[in-house]
Amino acid sequence: MARSAHDKKGLLSEEALTKFRVELLVKGTIVIGSQTLFTQDELARINQLQAEIPEEEVRLGDAGDSHNVFVKRVRVDPPGRSPSNVDGAAPRQIIDLLERKDRGFALKTILGASSDYVIRRCQLHRMPPGSFVGIHLDAESDPDFEYSVIVQLAQDFEGGEFVVYPSAYEQQVFRPPFGAVLVTTCRLRHEVKPVSAGERRSLVYFCSKRSGTNRRVIESSTSGHEAS
Ligand SMILES: [Fe+2]
Repeated sequence: MARSAHDKKGLLSEEALTKFRVELLVKGTIVIGSQTLFTQDELARINQLQAEIPEEEVRLGDAGDSHNVFVKRVRVDPPGRSPSNVDGAAPRQIIDLLERKDRGFALKTILGASSDYVIRRCQLHRMPPGSFVGIHLDAESDPDFEYSVIVQLAQDFEGGEFVVYPSAYEQQVFRPPFGAVLVTTCRLRHEVKPVSAGERRSLVYFCSKRSGTNRRVIESSTSGHEAS
């Protein structure tokens, strides 16, 4: 991204934000370059904070899909309940960082909202070699999820491509660099391919114009969940 596309704070100009907005509408997925929505200092801060959050292994997604990924939960969105932060200072501080005014404004413009977006769920993913996230639809976790935002927190890994399937006949492969942010609609199926070397780490959050209870209807067993 050309330096001229940024304002003095490193965030995108309104013109660039509008371009991303159009691209997101047309393609369903965009990648915003490193040092744009998050500075190196902010990424380092997220790294510090995540160390304080306990980790669990997730092997089954919300829709019965197959996963193998280590998850640290920051904000949860259980069916029939309102979103809530996980206990502790670190989850709250991560959400505060994500919601900082300039970044909130930039995302709101890209997502095309006249009202504010809320973060309904947020978590960190760690994927050592062999980990993957099977094909799934984020909207199956919560029908009000509109966009997922994925911040890449690692750089030295192989595999782990983010693949979106806009239709049965197309696939789009993304490998965002460290610090880049991938935004994708929650209405397209996608997966994360197996990591073959190193460790892929990301921060994922799901945005919606709607706050309040998760309107998902549970059909069978519940479990961990899923995402990117
Ligand atoms: Fe996902």
